[in-house]
Amino acid sequence: MSSTAAPAVTAGRSDPRDDIAIEAIDLVKKFGDFTAVDGVSFTVPQGTVLGLLGPNGAGKTTTVRMMTTLSPPTSGTARIAGHDVQAEPDLVRRSMGLTGQAATVDEILTGRENIQMIGGLYGINRRELRTRGTDLLEQFNLTEAGNKPVREYSGGMRRRLDLAVSLLAAPPVLFLDEPTTGLDPRSRSELWEVLRSLVAQGTTLLLTTQYLEEADHLADRIVVIDKGTIIAEGTSLELKEQAGAASLVLTVSDAADIPAAEALLRKTGGEVFIDHSSRKLTTPANGLADLTRVVGWFDESGIEVDDLGLARPSLDDVFLSLTGHRAEDETGDTTDEEQDR
Ligand SMILES: Nc1ncnc2c1ncn2[C@@H]1O[C@H](COP(=O)(O)OP(=O)(O)O)[C@@H](O)[C@H]1O
Ligand SMILES: [Mg+2]
Repeated sequence: MSSTAAPAVTAGRSDPRDDIAIEAIDLVKKFGDFTAVDGVSFTVPQGTVLGLLGPNGAGKTTTVRMMTTLSPPTSGTARIAGHDVQAEPDLVRRSMGLTGQAATVDEILTGRENIQMIGGLYGINRRELRTRGTDLLEQFNLTEAGNKPVREYSGGMRRRLDLAVSLLAAPPVLFLDEPTTGLDPRSRSELWEVLRSLVAQGTTLLLTTQYLEEADHLADRIVVIDKGTIIAEGTSLELKEQAGAASLVLTVSDAADIPAAEALLRKTGGEVFIDHSSRKLTTPANGLADLTRVVGWFDESGIEVDDLGLARPSLDDVFLSLTGHRAEDETGDTTDEEQDR
């Protein structure tokens, strides 16, 4: 997303920190002897999106919980819209919305009733709440569904309602913890659309994700964390450049040929990664020389190939080169069931 959508910067502004909506300052969180977050610092300029990217158990939720006043840091602090999470937790809460990993809306109520109930808790008056609710339902494609009980909603509709509810107070800063986990691809891209339009209106977004594609699509900047520390940061392009070499990607026509194809690719000397579902094999490529050699081997072998080519590194490759494992490989313990509000 482009940061050009940010509200116009006032000329002659004296303090450049005014443009920083979110700031993590050496955040540390220990659970007993275990350090879940180990000195995380970053800043997010107003009206931009930061993607906090990391595998399961990396420390994303713990970081977000500290930044949203839900969990006190062991050391370090965070500033949200200029307010310190420890010194001014109330002001922080008033400046932000949070959508946690678990949906927090009431099943029995309709979407509209949920909005009315939570808006009431925020102290928004009835008439304003009615207009605001109608606008939000429309913005999130829930106008019709708004009159149905939430228990009849699909996963995507729930997430959208959850987000709508967290926007009731029109917070300038929004934290989204894995907002699209468990959503089908269509609901996911619908949610992305909504998020893009929010940012276009000036909202600052911090979203955590395990989906490299999501960070790639939405985030202006990406901070990659693994085991509680930042291992890389930059735009998705910068990260991809950091990952360096292109890969050689080969798709075999018949899944039965995958082992033979793997053996051939290993002759290039690189590690071979296999995606069985798409019959795709990937290995680091050293340019065209490798490609022509590989074409020769496959010609001789008689293995039928659907596709063979060089691919620029994806964020997936970045992740692999940084952490030594693919994002999907991790199955660490998490506290995903924790309520985030
Ligand atoms: N309340 C807790 N007590 C003990 N360990 C925790 C607690 N919350 C999180 N952890 C541990 O901290 C690490 C980071 O967890 P989390 O922040 O949930 O990761 P992520 O959101 O990136 O998947 C994990 O190893 C997790 O088991
Ligand atoms: Mg998490």
